[in-house]
Amino acid sequence: MSPAAQTPAAGGEPILVVRDLYKHFGGIKATNGVTLEVRRQEIAGLIGPNGSGKSTLFSLVAGTVAPDSGQIRFDGHEIAGKSAHAVARLGLARTFQIPALFENMTVTENLLAAAAEGRWQGARERAAETLALLRLEHVAENRASDLSGGQQKLLEFGRAVMRQASLVLLDEVTAGVHPNIRKIILEAITRLRERGITFLIIEHDMEMVRSVCDRIIVMDSGRVVTSGTFSEIVRNSEVMQTYLGRPQ
Ligand SMILES: Nc1ncnc2c1ncn2[C@@H]1O[C@H](COP(=O)(O)OP(=O)(O)OP(=O)(O)O)[C@@H](O)[C@H]1O
Ligand SMILES: [Mg+2]
Repeated sequence: MSPAAQTPAAGGEPILVVRDLYKHFGGIKATNGVTLEVRRQEIAGLIGPNGSGKSTLFSLVAGTVAPDSGQIRFDGHEIAGKSAHAVARLGLARTFQIPALFENMTVTENLLAAAAEGRWQGARERAAETLALLRLEHVAENRASDLSGGQQKLLEFGRAVMRQASLVLLDEVTAGVHPNIRKIILEAITRLRERGITFLIIEHDMEMVRSVCDRIIVMDSGRVVTSGTFSEIVRNSEVMQTYLGRPQ
């Protein structure tokens, strides 16, 4: 990687391009024409009130839900309607709002299982690195079900890291976790971005958004209403009043 590529990708080429993405559940317009771009190696924040379609957008991009219409271009591939497995193999990983762990398996086994879904080569070394990155070494042999809620969020994040994705979608990975764990996650995101990974993160904690995101995309009622830097978004008082999500 060139040194230039290690700076925040303010003007970088897009790794993800979403155009006019529609998904209705019965009468609910979960996404109602979403259009957005995420640039290579940036940390983009996705914010918006409850029910504005953020998690649905992740499911559409990650292939767990098929869109009604629209385009999703990831790393040069048209992926709208492709299976979650196919999208993962192209280098995209996501976490779930509620951690999707193998509860009866240990922390290490959970990490290895994630590697098995992606690239197995060097999995044991990567599991050790991931345990260190997320400070989970002391619970490596504990069952996932015995972890605290915050540790489960860390492990969910670790499973996404183990897939060696080029784009990682994080769905409220810091929600409800202790500030110490939030700090670990924040530092890990920053370090992984330095290694070339792009992040799109759904986040309700504005301090987290301010400190980690290069750019913020605001959704409301199934659409993107604006995007910009944190200070640009904060200066937009209409967005502040209307769109900045539930109170902390
Ligand atoms: N599988 C589904 N079936 C029916 N309705 C759904 C489904 N998934 C999402 N919805 C609805 O679509 C809308 C958008 O939901 P979504 O979970 O994407 O919002 P969100 O922005 O992630 O909200 P939150 O901040 O609460 O997580 C909501 O009205 C939700 O109830
Ligand atoms: Mg959600």
